[in-house]
Amino acid sequence: MAPVSRSDPTSPDARAAALALLLHRHSTGPKHLREPGPSDAHVVRLAQAALRAPDHGRKIPFRFAVVRGAAKSRLADLFADYGRRRGKPADDVAAERDRAEHPPVVIAVIARIAPDDEIPEHEQWMAVGGAVANAMNALQLMGYAGKVVSGARAADPEIAGAFCGPGETLVGWIAAGTAATPPKAREADAPAALVRRWPDEGGT
Ligand SMILES: Cc1cc2nc3c(=O)[nH]c(=O)nc-3n(C[C@H](O)[C@H](O)[C@H](O)COP(=O)(O)O)c2cc1C
Repeated sequence: MAPVSRSDPTSPDARAAALALLLHRHSTGPKHLREPGPSDAHVVRLAQAALRAPDHGRKIPFRFAVVRGAAKSRLADLFADYGRRRGKPADDVAAERDRAEHPPVVIAVIARIAPDDEIPEHEQWMAVGGAVANAMNALQLMGYAGKVVSGARAADPEIAGAFCGPGETLVGWIAAGTAATPPKAREADAPAALVRRWPDEGGT
């Protein structure tokens, strides 16, 4: 039998470790993140993982915009302005600022879906979802934590306009950093309930 190499990603040990991490991936909310966040090189790694998601026609219908350092104050200004426009009280406007400023790194996810393409739009959106999932898995595999967030603010024209060019959609943001708290206990997953043989006894 070939010797097991720790640096070989196809070795049985490496595959089992990757699968174990995949089966335990979980989100960590922005409030529960602390420094350090992923470096620029780590964010590129995350994008590299995103590029390995299934993508019909390899259209790469997404891109990422990294918000770190002083740029987080710019994003906080946009969020605060959004809060004021919606008539939120001062405390809530401050909470809006915190949403942008608290996570060590904020990574905007921007979709670029080509209309009237040979690849149907829903398949392009699937590719965006796969890319985000791969990115979140990579984030956790690199030792970081985070959560995908969107909310009505992602659809706000002022905020979306700050990130997107023509034909682009702001999907939301990955709030990324290091987990400040251990993950919350959660119900065990029940994957078997999702799997049935086809055709069913009922004929579908
Ligand atoms: C595109 C997208 C947008 C999301 N937006 C929000 C959001 O605004 N607020 C939120 O609480 N969860 C949001 N979620 C869900 C969380 O990222 C997370 O997946 C969910 O809370 C389940 O936690 P888990 O990843 O630990 O299973 C979003 C997920 C996706 C894929």
